[in-house]
Amino acid sequence: MIRTLGIETSCDESAVAVVDGDGRVEVSLLSSQIAAHAPYGGVVPELASREHLKALPYLVDQALEAACGPVEMVAVTAGPGLIGALLVGVRFAAAFAWGRNLPLVAVDHLEGHLVSSLLSPDGGAARAEPDRVLALVASGGHSSWYLMDHGCRVRLGRTRDDAAGESFDKVAQVLGLGYPGGPAIDALARHGDSSKVPLPRPRLKDAPFDFSFSGLKSAAVRWIREQGLVDAGAGDGEPTAPVCDLAASFEAAVVEQLLSPLPELAATYRPHLVTASGGVAANSLLRRALSEWGDEHSVETLLPACSLTTDNAVMIAHAGQIAHRGGRSDDPRRLDARAREAWQPPGMRRETSGAGV
Ligand code: KG4
Ligand code: ZN
Repeated sequence: MIRTLGIETSCDESAVAVVDGDGRVEVSLLSSQIAAHAPYGGVVPELASREHLKALPYLVDQALEAACGPVEMVAVTAGPGLIGALLVGVRFAAAFAWGRNLPLVAVDHLEGHLVSSLLSPDGGAARAEPDRVLALVASGGHSSWYLMDHGCRVRLGRTRDDAAGESFDKVAQVLGLGYPGGPAIDALARHGDSSKVPLPRPRLKDAPFDFSFSGLKSAAVRWIREQGLVDAGAGDGEPTAPVCDLAASFEAAVVEQLLSPLPELAATYRPHLVTASGGVAANSLLRRALSEWGDEHSVETLLPACSLTTDNAVMIAHAGQIAHRGGRSDDPRRLDARAREAWQPPGMRRETSGAGV
């Protein structure tokens, strides 16, 4: 594998990284757009594209200066995500690679999250992917279980409505905790009692590997309104016990939903490794629950360092390296971006996850 420049612009963070040939992180830079979108109460796609345009040249210059040697390849997120935001990263990466005659690899954002758990949490070389990995990706836009096996990715289960991160963000918004809501709920939950607020955990009879968050989210929002706790978490004051109890109860229910398919998935696929990635994999209860499950069932579990759970360019660079080692290279003059998820059941091979699909 070769030293790789990774570029990620699928949503509201411009990320650039340089990863060496063994998957060690040499530089990882992030420019968050949270402040730019805050006045609008959500991500404004047009604004996101403009912010990426402003940030990328500076981030790339900085990354090249801090890298331990010249980059030999470029990997860029080509989808899924906001199309305008993706196009900024894709065209930047294509021009960069073409101008320097470097190989270019288009990476699926979800593939990036999937391989992020193989990156070393302490700066060492990345781990090779074993066969039969069950992998949860839980973020602001996606919540699915995948089977990773011999380079093949199959989506086995998914949320039928909201993503887990999206539901954390919504409940946090109603409590006045700001965006992103996951970390704030996680922090409050540590001071709360998860048995205090009864919340539903709906199961889908016809689809044991799927789950749902919208009923759970609506019940939590209803409870907050009934208790007169709208915006109760805003400001600098100490959060009250009911706010902390709601946070703990909601977090416990989301984690239970995410892990609910695991026993049957494990019995069916007999994994060598179980991983979780994506922003929600930073959640302290999810991390604890997954590793306890692994200990109880003698199955190895692996989680990325918290800094690599949310969107970053290290995972994109490493996913590009793996794809390039498998023979992938994309034409910079033809590289396109796509907004939608490429992997649908019964699953597609890695080769289909690149540009223009
Ligand atoms: O992977 P990511 O950075 O972006 C997407 O690809 O969507 O995930 C962001 C999501 C947000 O919804 C955020 O609230 C959630 O991850 N998140 C968390 C935690 N940290 C971030 N959710 C629960 N607990 C956390 N500690
Ligand atoms: Zn993501």
